[in-house]
Amino acid sequence: MRVRRVAICAVMLMIVACGWGWGQDTYKDSLIEKCPFYETATGRLAPVYPALAQQIVQDFGITEGICVDVGGGCGSLAMALARITDLQVYMLDIDPWAVRLCNLLVDEGDLTGKVVAYEGDAQDMAFRDNFADLVVSRGSIFFWADQLAGLKECYRILKPGGVAYIGGGFSRILDPETRAPLVQWRMDVTGLHSPDSHRHNISDLVRKARKAGLRHIRVDREPNVGRWIVIRKPDRAGRPAPASQP
Ligand SMILES: C[S@@+](CC[C@H](N)C(=O)[O-])C[C@H]1O[C@@H](n2cnc3c(N)ncnc32)[C@H](O)[C@@H]1O
Repeated sequence: MRVRRVAICAVMLMIVACGWGWGQDTYKDSLIEKCPFYETATGRLAPVYPALAQQIVQDFGITEGICVDVGGGCGSLAMALARITDLQVYMLDIDPWAVRLCNLLVDEGDLTGKVVAYEGDAQDMAFRDNFADLVVSRGSIFFWADQLAGLKECYRILKPGGVAYIGGGFSRILDPETRAPLVQWRMDVTGLHSPDSHRHNISDLVRKARKAGLRHIRVDREPNVGRWIVIRKPDRAGRPAPASQP
């Protein structure tokens, strides 16, 4: 009888322990469940972020100061940039669960303080004017209800002489063997027939942005890489940030 009681207590204790999160990753798991993109970002797309970060550093030469990753999700690009530069990176995302997950992954990746995630909307960011040396945004602009407002915000928070790289897709320096299946996957999931087309017309958006007064903004088109917008905010003397390296 006593043995049975002890056994029942032990089983009940185990059930309660599991429910309360005996496993250390319960909080993380609950966040991952709320952020389905995490699986893609840490799975199929994992090789994209270090390559993209490397490309951004190569092209724009910005390795210190402040970087804002707009719509950075669970922080893959923000962390990849923080690992290879001295940039202080702020990751901003509208999804509160992505923000929490990002801050947790940042701690796990020993990047505490180098990357800080905030909840916020690309179309109305809580950063002051002329704040960031570098603004990056991958795969998020296509979800902004008012893309022009988002671009204006990116421009507003850029320091004079700063650069923004905003768009979607992969990296030019990702090796072709890794990129080819990703390009095919993207065409399959989006139903697009060309790897470089996108749901929204980036060229039209750039034209609108120019009309709205954004200077030195252009589309960066490269086969099988995606659609990216480059903004080089003129410095105080009116000169744009230096042109990208080949
Ligand atoms: C496809 S995910 C890309 C995430 C990340 N940039 C990456 O490449 O791994 C799109 C992200 O944009 C965010 N997002 C969508 N609309 C937004 C907005 N208006 N302001 C800020 N973030 C937004 C989503 O919450 C999501 O995390």
